[in-house]
Amino acid sequence: MRVFVLGGTGSIGGAVVRELVARRHDFIGLARSEASALRLTQHGAASLAGDIASPERWTKTLPRIDAVIHMACDFKSDMAAIDRRLLDVLLPALAAQPVKPRFIYTGGCWLFGATHGKVTTEEAPFDPLPAFAWMVPHLHRVLAAPEVDGIVIHPAMVYDGAGGVFQRFAREASERDAVRVVESEAVSWPLVHRDDLANLYALVLERAPAGSSYIGAAIEAFSVGQIARAFAKRFGTRTLEPEIISADAVAAELGEWARGHARDQRLSGAKAQRELGWQPKHLNPEHEIAELA
Ligand SMILES: NC(=O)c1ccc[n+]([C@@H]2O[C@H](COP(=O)([O-])OP(=O)(O)OC[C@H]3O[C@@H](n4cnc5c(N)ncnc54)[C@H](OP(=O)(O)O)[C@@H]3O)[C@@H](O)[C@H]2O)c1
Repeated sequence: MRVFVLGGTGSIGGAVVRELVARRHDFIGLARSEASALRLTQHGAASLAGDIASPERWTKTLPRIDAVIHMACDFKSDMAAIDRRLLDVLLPALAAQPVKPRFIYTGGCWLFGATHGKVTTEEAPFDPLPAFAWMVPHLHRVLAAPEVDGIVIHPAMVYDGAGGVFQRFAREASERDAVRVVESEAVSWPLVHRDDLANLYALVLERAPAGSSYIGAAIEAFSVGQIARAFAKRFGTRTLEPEIISADAVAAELGEWARGHARDQRLSGAKAQRELGWQPKHLNPEHEIAELA
């Protein structure tokens, strides 16, 4: 397929474009800087210069495509307005495509509430973190848009070695006396390695029915205390005992969105495994942390 990728240089997008190349899909990546264009072309892809904040500048020059994968977000205070305008302009522009394209929209685990140990599936009502509440009407809009066959992926917390959501743990384990966790070390996160998630995006692209949604969780729940202790052990931090900080403190330090770190969730990726044959391979993050170079 010929895929137009938004956010192809990001934490999730970088893995997705590698998976697309491995599966012999063609892709064109939107690039807002020369550095991003270079990173995309290093994968052998074409790039289209443009910013999601000014879609009217590049949507008229879109080539023929079979699908759009949207994973772009700049996490600034105007991210909701930028995404709304992007959909306002991009969806009607896609009506000019000769064949109705698939449109994969990226939601996230933080659109679901705290689950308090209960397993949550795609059927659960949304209870979004306020900073990301705007995503809910946007994903409904994509699913209902007549111009595209919309599908939504809700990634769990995405890690990769000492990167992604593990980056902060790794940094603190090397720089501080203790690794910090938000509110409690018993808080559990659903996890997915970014290569497994990239494989899910490809399966969704190739097989998912229009109008469907999938939670991308390879591990339903994993306690942040276990993650913090594994990094402290691997880096020889002075104490293995995590330091507890409040959600208010992490929001003041990183932004309101970071309150999600205190969300205790258990999310199931069983639907993607059952319907699409998704088989995540990275299921033991503690072992992977211990093996880090
Ligand atoms: N990572 C997770 O654990 C996680 C979990 C659940 C959901 N999600 C969702 O997944 C999406 C992607 O997350 P991520 O972690 O991959 O983010 P990321 O690593 O920060 O990547 C963001 C991507 O968006 C691009 N981008 C940002 N602003 C742009 C703009 N104005 N114009 C064009 N491109 C722009 C960036 O391009 P440049 O390289 O040019 O900066 C980059 O490719 C977000 O919506 C996030 O909420 C993430």
